[in-house]
Amino acid sequence: MNILTTLTETVSAAFAKRGYDAAYGGVTVSNRPDLCHYQCNGALPAAKAKKVNPLVIAGEIAEELRGDSRFASADAAPPGFVNLRLSDAFLTSLLCDMAADKRLLLPLMERRTIVMDYGGPNVAKPLHVGHLRSAIIGDSMVRLSRFLGHAVIGDIHLGDWGLQMGLVIAEMEERGLDAGDVSLDDLNEIYPAASARSKTDASFAEKAAVRTAELQSGDPALRAVWERLRATSVEGLRRSYDQMEVFFDRWYGESDADRFIPPVIDILRERGLLRESEGALVVDVALPEDKEPMPPMMVQKTNGAYIYGTTDLATLYQRKRDFDPDEVWYFTDNRQSLHFKQIFRCAEIAGILSGGGKNAVCRHFPFGTVNGKDGKPYKTRDGGVMRLSDLIDSVTSNALEKVKSSDIEIEEAETGVIARQLGMAALRVGDMQNHRTKDYIFDMDRFLATEGKTGPYLQYTAVRIRSVLVKAAGFKPGAILPPASDTERDLMLCMPLVPDALLRAFADKAPSAICDVLFELAGRFNRFYFEHKILQHPDEERRASWLSLLSLTDRLLTVLLGILGVEVPAHM
Ligand code: ARG
Repeated sequence: MNILTTLTETVSAAFAKRGYDAAYGGVTVSNRPDLCHYQCNGALPAAKAKKVNPLVIAGEIAEELRGDSRFASADAAPPGFVNLRLSDAFLTSLLCDMAADKRLLLPLMERRTIVMDYGGPNVAKPLHVGHLRSAIIGDSMVRLSRFLGHAVIGDIHLGDWGLQMGLVIAEMEERGLDAGDVSLDDLNEIYPAASARSKTDASFAEKAAVRTAELQSGDPALRAVWERLRATSVEGLRRSYDQMEVFFDRWYGESDADRFIPPVIDILRERGLLRESEGALVVDVALPEDKEPMPPMMVQKTNGAYIYGTTDLATLYQRKRDFDPDEVWYFTDNRQSLHFKQIFRCAEIAGILSGGGKNAVCRHFPFGTVNGKDGKPYKTRDGGVMRLSDLIDSVTSNALEKVKSSDIEIEEAETGVIARQLGMAALRVGDMQNHRTKDYIFDMDRFLATEGKTGPYLQYTAVRIRSVLVKAAGFKPGAILPPASDTERDLMLCMPLVPDALLRAFADKAPSAICDVLFELAGRFNRFYFEHKILQHPDEERRASWLSLLSLTDRLLTVLLGILGVEVPAHM
């Protein structure tokens, strides 16, 4: 069982035994590792309720726990903390259990079916760094959820159906271009040009709107053009996502939801939810308890066109029908928060999410912005939006420089692979070590460094452990022994924190908890490694124990890095 759960049960029982509410027994990891390993702060609220001195209650609880052989010490500390240190014997048996358990002592969770939406790139428009965060965070949440035993369907949800398609088609007509002539690079140039033109040229804007409507109503010639453009774009997108090792189970787009718009509109109409407003159709989604303004959600524009939100409603309808999920999760930047609130409410009132005795819960997990060193959204040198493919190329070529200048021998053929692994680790860890909701500064040199809180540092540590394990191939691992030094104890104490970090990352949808525990584990391992000559140790049992400890460290690093989508290079 998870260590925090075990300790919480024990301390709760102590509270109950002394006549207090067991709910005060919550145990957390100590924020003063110099004083203790774990702590309980429950005596503070317990004392408030009884109007007594918290230190007295903490003293009673500590006394109650002192007889328990799992603790090396249990002390009360002002103003009313209970500080706990694990005994070496208990810690050792805990790690033996962990080493023997495929699930790393994680509790079994009820298996849920979760649809995750973490792509959202737009056909015709180049990807930008905002899409980077959706991909990195979403992909890690897919990996984590699967590791915990959930069933996940990852969907890219391409933006392939909106006005951008009409703009590109109109611009191609102006230039006399055929879909077959348009390459990915052309596409990346055509869209911004068309978008700019539509802002100054009203008749061009009108034409683009007409083309969008014609495409959406099934014009076969336009459909053929659209299919070509979509294929060209998808090819480029696949390349970028593959390089990042970000995977999707479905490459559905907004266009795939189009056929579900009529049934959704019918439902809204039957339930009397549609209201006409200045020629457009809207649904009121405000609730009396709303503290912030909640405007009605538009589903159809005055000119009859359906919009982004309509497509998202239809997509929810499709997801319910195809996957009957327990939950639907969206990862986009926080500027889309209102959009998602509106569609979730609308879907809820319309009953699109219920049926079959199951109600799908939709959740939006917003994230902050990727900024440049000037603190403003990250841009290219000439001030444009940075394309994801350019970003990946530049990170990879910087990583390649590093690999080439390293003093270890790496075969020519391998340098490219390792550079990609390094570059992607730099990107992923550079992003995810920040809490999802925070903005962060994109700093390639810092992200790529082998020292500090970086992806390459973690990779380096994993490579080091593996090379010791390879050299130790002739030795037999054995039972893990109680620690013989402080650095060894510190390393051991970090291991039970891993399952807890995984659960926290899942609960909060924030992979930063995984980064935190990884840096802790890697740091403590490195300190242990520099203090001990593992393979030269004269005592066979100690050496055997250390090998087991190394294997467990390697396994934990592998699991955690795997969830972050970080590969461990063969050499570094
Ligand atoms: N295509 C959108 C954009 O680039 C993101 C889509 C996010 N997912 C969704 N189901 N709305 O802003």
